[in-house]
Amino acid sequence: MNAPFDDRDGFIWLDGRMLPWREAKLHVLSHGLHYGGSVFEGERVYDGTVFKLHEHSQRLIDSATMLDMKIGMSVEEIEDASRDVLEANNVANGYLRPIAWRGCEEMAVSAKSNKIHVAFTCWDWPKYFFPKGGEGSGVALKTVKWRRPDPLTAPVHAKAAGNYAIGTMAKHEAMDAGYDDAFMLDYKGRVAESSGSNIFFIKDGAIRTPKADCFLNGITRQTVIQMAKDMGIPIEETTIMPDEISDYDEVFVTGTAAEITAVGKIDNKEYTPGSITKRMQEAYKDLTRQKVAPRKTA
Ligand SMILES: Cc1ncc(COP(=O)(O)O)c(C=O)c1O
Repeated sequence: MNAPFDDRDGFIWLDGRMLPWREAKLHVLSHGLHYGGSVFEGERVYDGTVFKLHEHSQRLIDSATMLDMKIGMSVEEIEDASRDVLEANNVANGYLRPIAWRGCEEMAVSAKSNKIHVAFTCWDWPKYFFPKGGEGSGVALKTVKWRRPDPLTAPVHAKAAGNYAIGTMAKHEAMDAGYDDAFMLDYKGRVAESSGSNIFFIKDGAIRTPKADCFLNGITRQTVIQMAKDMGIPIEETTIMPDEISDYDEVFVTGTAAEITAVGKIDNKEYTPGSITKRMQEAYKDLTRQKVAPRKTA
């Protein structure tokens, strides 16, 4: 078993200071822990460079704004702290996690005077769905009872920790039934996404994906849509109902962690990863290996 995340070697950037990993602590009465006042990012490091660093850094600020939190850092400062922690931990291929949360000044629902804390950390990380990884038969998804909520009910477009309570319950339900991940509908019963990735369906050489109107519009999702357009593959954002999914030939999920992972099964319906999934995976691999955000020089 891997070492727990609070007992590792390395460095964590916390509120402007680079601390030894085990010393980066917060108090048990932090507002973020009790009331879900926390936003974060998940970023991939490829060959020493963070993929889409600018987009993730902007989304951290946008997520915080949606939760009425002010991070107090510009996008450029977030990018610099991200690169500093990457360098301190000497990670070539891994995962980078910025997080911002409300501190301890008030312990009540309101949090107007609570300080916003920020931390960045980074570690080596293998494939999310390893070992299947979509290169073989693909991952198995199960329709679960948990749904993506109405945008008037939750900050669905923010990468907010509170939203992940639903994702964790959904993923546990799927795993307990022997599947890899959850197939989630939204509050209207439409196909939405998985617990931590967006979903795409392929039929007759064309790709369709649900509109991101009540779940995270993933940076990988947006990248894949652009890639398909650039490659001349027809792609449409549209409503997909669960009773239509057996009509499709190929399915894949996308996310910073999942990258592009083929789906081999949803409930009892099996899919075979085909040529479009493979072309998209190859194109994504090429794109992520480009150095898109070189470190600034003084
Ligand atoms: C619920 C959810 N949907 C979709 C995604 C994919 O987003 P991205 O491609 O920005 O990683 C993620 C991962 O962050 C997620 O947690």
